[in-house]
Amino acid sequence: MDNNDKNNVKWFRNAAPYINAHRGKTVVLMFGGEAVLHENFANIIHDISLLRSLGVKLVLVHGSRPQIEERMKRQSVTSQLENNVRITDAETLSAVKDATGSLRIHIEALLTMGLVNSPMHGSQIRVSTGNFVIAKPIGVKDGVDYKHTGSVRRIDTVGINTQLDYGSIVLLSPIGYSSTGEVFNLSLEDVATQTAISLKADKLITFTEQDGLLDKQGQLVRSCDVSTVKKMLLENSDHARQLLMRAIIHSGESGVERCHCISYQNDSALLQELFTRDGAGTLIAKDYKEQLSTASIDDVGGILELLAPLEAEGILVKRSRELLEVEIERFTVIKKEDVIIACAALYPYPESNTGEVACVAIHPDYRKGNRGVRLIAALECVAKKQKFASIFVLTTVSGHWFQEQGFIEETMENLPDGKKQLYNFQRKSKVFIKKI
Ligand SMILES: CC(C)(COP(=O)(O)OP(=O)(O)OC[C@H]1O[C@@H](n2cnc3c(N)ncnc32)[C@H](O)[C@@H]1OP(=O)(O)O)[C@@H](O)C(=O)NCCC(=O)NCCS
Repeated sequence: MDNNDKNNVKWFRNAAPYINAHRGKTVVLMFGGEAVLHENFANIIHDISLLRSLGVKLVLVHGSRPQIEERMKRQSVTSQLENNVRITDAETLSAVKDATGSLRIHIEALLTMGLVNSPMHGSQIRVSTGNFVIAKPIGVKDGVDYKHTGSVRRIDTVGINTQLDYGSIVLLSPIGYSSTGEVFNLSLEDVATQTAISLKADKLITFTEQDGLLDKQGQLVRSCDVSTVKKMLLENSDHARQLLMRAIIHSGESGVERCHCISYQNDSALLQELFTRDGAGTLIAKDYKEQLSTASIDDVGGILELLAPLEAEGILVKRSRELLEVEIERFTVIKKEDVIIACAALYPYPESNTGEVACVAIHPDYRKGNRGVRLIAALECVAKKQKFASIFVLTTVSGHWFQEQGFIEETMENLPDGKKQLYNFQRKSKVFIKKI
């Protein structure tokens, strides 16, 4: 295996917890008409099909501003803007329908034939479009009639979810229909935001020409919360950026846990953002605190990933997937962004009034952050609830760390009988006990 192969294998292993975390999640992708025009769009389409094949439920919302401008110019229709909003008269609406319809067909075609000669050759994507967006007119504001310019009234979430459950990708355009049968010109941001909120999407991913959201110095902000985006909005006078930031703020404040902002020009941005720890653009999380909880069956894959290197080094005893599945409720995990970064387990010995602390593992990138201490405290709580008098641990290399947590070195004679019989003399683990 050459170095390149080794790097690929490493990348794949590192991506595995994220693949687990994203499966079955609903993700809304928002991209403007300029992204579709860019040469990298074909690569984005390949990555979208890859995400679909990994079980991510996808709703694509496309814009068509440059295409509408171009169509209006060709048809000599003059653009009327009021407060940066296009007033859609009958002629403009005709250009909007032409441009948006053509673009939608273009994207559908790419999603269908984009797979030939691509890394996803052979897979079939079903695209679903339709009257999923119900619109209402903006009406007359400050004496200005916005005519066929509208806003989202309702998203047909049942219709969209049915398509997603069938495995289709849903494609939405910035056009909506009213209950009176009229057609309305909508903004991309309004459709994407309302769709993400109504579907209770797990993520809204926005594509932009820059690498993500930039600070005042023009540096990429890797992660922040919604209140930071609000501050950025006040400092930014670019209309397109303001629309993007407002969409992120509104989504974040209305329950969409994570919004991402990535570049449509960067070939690897989408995959990097979703499958690597550092991502490629900006992650805006409502709350990106870590969570400590009892593990469930869905966590087995993540725990195996975390333990594998430590088992390979001989620091932990190897556990099979089957065993882990049976014992999963004994594990406590710490998750960040739905990915397991730390775990520990408590194996009860009720007949001896004690419990064994095992499998304490913190991902190397997250060590020295008190997570080990938090996990031991959580296990102590579990042990106290079961009225145990102590907890114990067998370790080959981390004795000092456990001593710092209040454990005292003892001989194996002090182990519960059930454990003594299983003691592995070859490992020569040391025994530490903590009274609780
Ligand atoms: C041991 C381990 C659980 C500690 O987790 P953690 O979250 O990094 O720990 P904390 O932040 O609570 O404490 C960090 C301190 O412990 C120290 N420490 C880490 N491993 C240690 C070890 N084997 N021996 C002595 N001290 C150790 C660190 O150097 C650090 O001290 P410092 O800040 O003074 O430099 C973690 O390093 C780990 O996962 N190790 C590999 C697996 C393992 O050994 N598990 C135990 C067997 S069951």
